[in-house]
Amino acid sequence: MSRFPFTPFPNGWFVVAYSDEVAQGEVSPCTYFGRELVIFRGEDGEAHVLDAYCPHLGAHLGIGGKVVENSIECPFHAWRFDGAGSCVAVPYAKRIPPTARVRAWPTLERNGRIMVWYHADGREPEFDIPVLPEVEDDAWSEGERRRWKIRSHNQEMAENSVDCAHFRYVHGTLSVPETEAKENGPVLEVMSKTKFGTPKGEMEGSISSAMHGFGFNWVRFTGIVETFLVSGITPIDGEYVDVRFEFRVKKLGNADATKGVGAALIRDIEKQMAEDTPIWENKVFHERPALCDGDGPIAVFRRWCQQFYSEPDSGQSGRAA
Ligand code: FES
Ligand SMILES: [Fe+2]
Repeated sequence: MSRFPFTPFPNGWFVVAYSDEVAQGEVSPCTYFGRELVIFRGEDGEAHVLDAYCPHLGAHLGIGGKVVENSIECPFHAWRFDGAGSCVAVPYAKRIPPTARVRAWPTLERNGRIMVWYHADGREPEFDIPVLPEVEDDAWSEGERRRWKIRSHNQEMAENSVDCAHFRYVHGTLSVPETEAKENGPVLEVMSKTKFGTPKGEMEGSISSAMHGFGFNWVRFTGIVETFLVSGITPIDGEYVDVRFEFRVKKLGNADATKGVGAALIRDIEKQMAEDTPIWENKVFHERPALCDGDGPIAVFRRWCQQFYSEPDSGQSGRAA
């Protein structure tokens, strides 16, 4: 029985790889949305994502397939497919069969990430992903990455940031942070005041973040130091999600201090992730939770969530909350 009343794959943009993981002319297999996919980057530098199984006799294009010019060549009989999924060459046939095509995913490369658009009804992208200046800016440290595989759902993990009471009781913060959430179409802005770990102990600070759908999120921590986190959570198979976090620190006068701040932030977030995981992996989702007045903007959050499901009945628990 599913622990969630909604589909495991909400609509939106989702990260399938970091840009530097798929070099020009390279092929990379991955599994997301319960499907086998292949990412390849043509000689023109453009990244493409296709369904992985060749429409000919079913070989996996991501296992032994290779890039030829701007197409991917199947390892089995060398049929070639372009970035739109059309078969562009069958080396031993006079005619290319019209059914020889694979699904091409709407793909966007931004902020050092290759992202795909998932929509249950196959609709075209309905919103955009912003350029985050911190990612390219020399005033910020290089991104440092962490990755987790967690048995949960995108919506459940996203709810964490508006669930202010859990910070006190799961993560042991000194107080319950004050949290506000504001809906802005597909974006949910969340602001909180809180305390977080630094090499000098707990520090007062504020956190502002934005979720662009369920698959892409950034968080700015402001206090004595500024830190920046970009995260992407992508459903793997209906059971697990793939969680990528990338951390940056606004550079301080000396490199060791910058490193120290970065390391402390990462330690703190890793600790939080370890604390949240057993809750996420074992909880159920209540459509009508018994909420109290100290619970934070969970109702606002759940209302915002509804837009990412195609079925009219999913994710509607915001009404009851
Ligand atoms: S299975 Fe791909 S070319 Fe035959
Ligand atoms: Fe948490």
